[in-house]
Amino acid sequence: MFLQWIGIATTTYLVIKLVYYLAQGAYLYFFRTYPDFNKYGKWSVITGATDGIGKETAFQLASRGQNIALISRNTERLKNVAKEIESNHNVQTKCLAIDFSGDEEIYDKIADFLQGLDIGTLVNNVGTDQELVRFLEQSNLSLIIRNLVRVNIMPTLKMTQIVLPGMVERKRGLILNLSAFTILQPIGKFAITNATKSFVDLFSRALSYEYESEGITIQSCRPGAVGTKLSQQFGDLEKMTSIKDYCTSWLATVDKARWTHGHWQHAVEAWVWEKIPTALVQKLSDYFYMEPGAKIMKELEKKK
Ligand SMILES: NC(=O)c1ccc[n+]([C@@H]2O[C@H](COP(=O)([O-])OP(=O)(O)OC[C@H]3O[C@@H](n4cnc5c(N)ncnc54)[C@H](OP(=O)(O)O)[C@@H]3O)[C@@H](O)[C@H]2O)c1
Ligand SMILES: *[C@@H]1O[C@H](CO)[C@@H](O)[C@H](O)[C@H]1NC(C)=O
Ligand SMILES: *[C@@H]1O[C@H](CO)[C@@H](O)[C@H](O)[C@H]1NC(C)=O
Ligand SMILES: *[C@@H]1O[C@H](CO)[C@@H](O)[C@H](O)[C@H]1NC(C)=O
Repeated sequence: MFLQWIGIATTTYLVIKLVYYLAQGAYLYFFRTYPDFNKYGKWSVITGATDGIGKETAFQLASRGQNIALISRNTERLKNVAKEIESNHNVQTKCLAIDFSGDEEIYDKIADFLQGLDIGTLVNNVGTDQELVRFLEQSNLSLIIRNLVRVNIMPTLKMTQIVLPGMVERKRGLILNLSAFTILQPIGKFAITNATKSFVDLFSRALSYEYESEGITIQSCRPGAVGTKLSQQFGDLEKMTSIKDYCTSWLATVDKARWTHGHWQHAVEAWVWEKIPTALVQKLSDYFYMEPGAKIMKELEKKK
């Protein structure tokens, strides 16, 4: 009798949990209701805005009436993207060419650049990669360490330091950080990059508890493979979620949860990925990522 009750209770619990997951998934990924970005402020700031996820996000925010401040390295590309945004959407743009791997003074320039703007949305998107080999086998380890700390970690902290005070004062703001679902399991040969993404994820989520009572929404986004230049080493970009599909889905989730995978396919992949035993994860990632990745990188090098 007692065991029977335990059985019923357990089954009920599992069914409720499943229904909850499915409902939450449907709410996040299939009900595409977008927030009114203009209620957070007139300007969106996007780091790494000239390619991939950052560029598409810039266009989509502009199509929703946001003025866009773009930050990345290449002046020419910045000008082109800004021109394209202004000619397609009736909004203002502002560009700053900065290399985030530079010294901390760059943040004084960024603070000047953003001075006085009504910034409602910050997208911490800029990110860079390690080589797909073990820690000591990176071809210039010092450089990789420096770049990953400066490009993947520092901007998340420093951009927040620059933008958050204004948001708190105005009692509104939206901060979006790009993390990744590979943080759900430790993976050999991804060690440095993925650890920086864990930092971003945990920082964002903790900060969201600190500031949500002040009207600030902070979200960490954890994509799988999106078809951008950064993903070239993982194979055919055509087979990955397109940048446009990904951003269209992701931006509908931003005010609904503290973290998201942005797209239902990525949520399913992440769910499976998290459930696989960690020892098996190493074998799978060697088979699916490292070996094909090494070949692809060689071919890309040759083409250069
Ligand atoms: N693509 C994926 O599958 C995937 C998966 C998980 C997470 N993510 C994360 O999503 C974010 C965006 O990735 P993505 O694939 O869209 O990248 P991407 O296509 O390589 O674009 C990177 C952007 O950042 C700029 N940038 C790169 N290094 C910079 C630096 N040192 N200083 C200033 N700007 C710099 C680039 O422009 P310039 O070259 O002109 O500077 C470009 O606009 C990253 O944080 C990435 O880790 C991506
Ligand atoms: C490695 O990167 C550092 C910068 O951190 C640079 O000074 C050094 O020359 C590089 N070494 C090689 C062998 O490229
Ligand atoms: C994990 O690390 C690999 C290797 O650097 C990188 O290509 C991949 O994008 C990383 N994933 C995330 C989510 O950062
Ligand atoms: C997201 O960016 C905001 C602004 O920098 C920052 O406060 C928050 O900590 C970041 N969260 C993540 C996940 O980086």
